[in-house]
Amino acid sequence: MKALVTGAAGFIGSHLASSLVSAGHEVVGIDCLNPYYDPSIKRANLHSVPQSDRFTFIEADLNELDLDGPLKDVDVIFHLAGQPGVRASWGDGFDGYVVDNVSATQRLLEAAKGSESIRKFVYASSSSIYGDAESFPTRESEVPRPVSPYGVTKLAGEHLVMLYAKAFDLPGVALRYFTIYGPRQRPDMAFNRFIRAAIVGETVEIFGDGLQIREFTYVEDCVRATLAAAEFGKVGVAYNIGGGAQTSILEVIDLLGEFKGKQIDRVHLESMKGDARRTMADTSRCLTDLGVVSEVSLRDGLQKQFSSALEAIT
Ligand code: NAD
Ligand code: UGA
Repeated sequence: MKALVTGAAGFIGSHLASSLVSAGHEVVGIDCLNPYYDPSIKRANLHSVPQSDRFTFIEADLNELDLDGPLKDVDVIFHLAGQPGVRASWGDGFDGYVVDNVSATQRLLEAAKGSESIRKFVYASSSSIYGDAESFPTRESEVPRPVSPYGVTKLAGEHLVMLYAKAFDLPGVALRYFTIYGPRQRPDMAFNRFIRAAIVGETVEIFGDGLQIREFTYVEDCVRATLAAAEFGKVGVAYNIGGGAQTSILEVIDLLGEFKGKQIDRVHLESMKGDARRTMADTSRCLTDLGVVSEVSLRDGLQKQFSSALEAIT
């Protein structure tokens, strides 16, 4: 297959591009390497994609690039480019979320509609669209009520994908990723921050009481589900992609203490606006339609992320 991966230099996008290239597919990656976090990390992410003439990288902004060339003969679009991060989406930051999550998605959909080659448009949506859900495990049929501006923009993107599926037969599928972790995780995310602090002996900052619960999902499980969605995802359908276990932040810090062989110093700060109290995915639709179930336990996945950070830092 010929795949277009937007956000290919990012955390999840670089893992996805690597898997596709390794499986023998032709991949065009697009990323503007924006400075939300250090672009040198994104360049390093790109270097982790196996060297191959089947991988072409275009450094460009989806809001500006002429997309006709990159979309030529593409079978599957994996649209992962976007402005992530729940807690930075308030205030002045919001414009960037609208531009990169809503406008860029609309522009890509416009360019893709009417294509004869595209057989799937896979959109990276987010568990943040649920906000503080009413029922757990949360099913895709739950009415989304985001509690962060970020969640609002990811939901808008998802709605756009579904609109283009209906109006123009562009075969869109939305994947609601639940807090992805693993090597190359973004530096603003909890595990990356906690592991870094644990390794260098700094104090871990906990937003709130630490009893907030997340369904954490290992990045390789996320990639497997994303690849399966390209093959088996039903058009116009949203899928929860979750790791299969729910854990509090305090439990994660205890686990890191076990790896380190020493209790991790911690400080509690105010809880953050926009943070959901709990996420928990009902993944039965993912299993039924995509045939995928998460395989990596939190302990194993966290150990892998810890070891890879240890290797990089020491
Ligand atoms: P990331 O920031 O590492 O990757 C996103 C990439 O998109 C970045 O490299 C950035 O430079 C690029 N980008 C942003 N706007 C662009 C534009 N206009 N044109 C071209 N490139 C652009 O983030 P990530 O954690 O890998 O997340 C990838 C996607 O998955 C995002 O859409 C995010 O909202 C979604 N998501 C992530 C998680 C998670 O836990 N990491 C969970 C749910 C959903
Ligand atoms: C993550 C991603 O950052 C979002 O882009 C994504 O859309 C979302 O998952 C999702 O699942 O949809 P989040 O769940 O906030 O968002 O993930 P983390 O940044 O890893 O934070 C997890 C929890 O740890 C949050 O409650 C946060 O407040 C807490 N935290 C984070 C801390 O207590 N301390 C920190 O230093 C960082």
